[in-house]
Amino acid sequence: MCGIIGYVGEKNCTPILLNGLKNLEYRGYDSAGIAVLEGNSINIKKSKGRVKNLEDLIEKDLCGGNIGIAHTRWATHGKPSKENAHPHEDNSHTFALVHNGIIENYKELRHFLCEQGYSFFSETDTEVIPNLIHYYYEKQEKTKDGFLQAVALACKKLEGSFAILVLCKYFPQTIILARRNSPLVVGKGKNEYYIASDIPAILEYTRDFYFLDDNEISFLESDIIHFFDFDLLEHEKELIHSSLSRNSSNKNGYEDFMLKEIEEQPQAIFDTLNQDIDLHLSSSFSQIYIVACGTAMHAGLVGKTCIETLCKIPTFVEVASEFRYRNPIIDSHTLCIFISQSGETADTIAALKLAKQKKAKTIAISNVMGSSISREADVCFYTYAGPEIAVASTKAYTSQVCLLCMLAILFAKQLKTASDKDLEVLKEDLLQLPKQIENILEHKDKIQILAKQLAFERDMFFLGRGIDYTTCLEASLKLKEISYIHSEAYPAGELKHGPIALIEQNTPVVGILTEEALLEKTISNLQEVIARGAKTFIVTNQELPKNIFDFVFTIPKTSRFTSPALSIVPLQLFSYYIAKQKNLDVDKPRNLAKSVTVE
Ligand code: M6R
Repeated sequence: MCGIIGYVGEKNCTPILLNGLKNLEYRGYDSAGIAVLEGNSINIKKSKGRVKNLEDLIEKDLCGGNIGIAHTRWATHGKPSKENAHPHEDNSHTFALVHNGIIENYKELRHFLCEQGYSFFSETDTEVIPNLIHYYYEKQEKTKDGFLQAVALACKKLEGSFAILVLCKYFPQTIILARRNSPLVVGKGKNEYYIASDIPAILEYTRDFYFLDDNEISFLESDIIHFFDFDLLEHEKELIHSSLSRNSSNKNGYEDFMLKEIEEQPQAIFDTLNQDIDLHLSSSFSQIYIVACGTAMHAGLVGKTCIETLCKIPTFVEVASEFRYRNPIIDSHTLCIFISQSGETADTIAALKLAKQKKAKTIAISNVMGSSISREADVCFYTYAGPEIAVASTKAYTSQVCLLCMLAILFAKQLKTASDKDLEVLKEDLLQLPKQIENILEHKDKIQILAKQLAFERDMFFLGRGIDYTTCLEASLKLKEISYIHSEAYPAGELKHGPIALIEQNTPVVGILTEEALLEKTISNLQEVIARGAKTFIVTNQELPKNIFDFVFTIPKTSRFTSPALSIVPLQLFSYYIAKQKNLDVDKPRNLAKSVTVE
């Protein structure tokens, strides 16, 4: 989705802004733009398509200046075009602004501004903001304070979500920024500040950050920073040092982020497990809801199995976009766990706010320090997977699975619902995962060969029972999103109730078999598809009868609950190698964005 970058300091800002935009490319976008303030003129360049197009434009007509803002746009209101790209200006060209989010009342504001004589030149919701700022500025003293007042007054009128950076041509040292429901961080350098919607965009310049809160506005110059609420009451803010390394957000010699991130899973899991979790769970919870989207929701399904088995509390998993609109029956006896790698997924944040309104106790699981869900929830636990840049989530998923198992162990201990011995065994299994994943990664060539054979298939099926079915869902999502092959995940026993009609000669079926108690039943289901001509490819940690299946990939033995963190790894590689074989952009699949900040 959209990305924001800004700079104020002593350096030439253009290369910094362009580099920041490139670092943000992974979020998905369709146009880009930059505004640099030099003297009293704002120089704006925009282009449709890749940041490279913008860079070419700037090379022809170089922007200088030490203060600027830039943006990558993912179209919501209006098609991808140069006119709709940010930065947007007010009619008098006094203000330039970049915006992430959606202004829900833009039609009313546009109508109001038209009545005041303003005109609009784009189809965006964003263009109302610089004009509204201008409208208020005209009523202020023409000072920096007046500029700040005007931005604050405009923010109060906006409904929806926004993270904005604003330049004013009369104040060539100043950037004003504000947010509501859309992230913004300010990185501190020496006599300079870097602003971004996302830490990885500026991680190479600084590791000291201010995280803006909702309804907060900030006034920035190269050596000045002030924070206010929208009534302009000033407050202090803590500078937070991030332990992320600079390498975490570059490819570090890998061809793609996705492969790098698949291979980082041992470290990500190790770092996630190696934290002290301090949580006292009240025994009065009658139910647990796990709410998330996409891959994070699939991790939640593993969490459900683990929590229900160990803690004996009914646990429900729901997609956030459904949960938020269906008036769920929850109250102060409900624990709601929200999982989000980015911590900025609009539906997950809205679901979390709903749960809080209904007085549920809320826990967030996020991979991004200071993210919106981490601040909104009563308690937040972090996965320490490091920045995940590829759109397809890999290391965040396995880290989420491990963190949920850790929480289940902790809850079960407090509630005394599982034996100490069982909990110790599971703990030990968790600790073995990094080594076991390394072991799987050593055999990735086998998966690569298989992927080459299946790269041009039209459909694939993923079958499993119990916890293996949850891995099927995740494996099928990975395949769809980066290889564009149609795929379906089914509980193996459900196939006979319809989908088996789709099995033809040579249809590829991937079976996951780690559920020992359900092994015979799953094998029988696979034999049913073999009898109808399917080719079968198996991931297992069990002894299987010989010569039934076309391909078997064996993974190390582990407990039921930790098995998804192993069985998904060959299937992540499978999707990755298929996408590579098809020459696709694995890190930035079509139509997708890394963090889905609109509903
Ligand atoms: O940042 P989040 O974990 O909230 O993101 C949720 C989904 O958008 C995300 O997992 C998505 O499904 C991935 N592209 C899957 O690989």
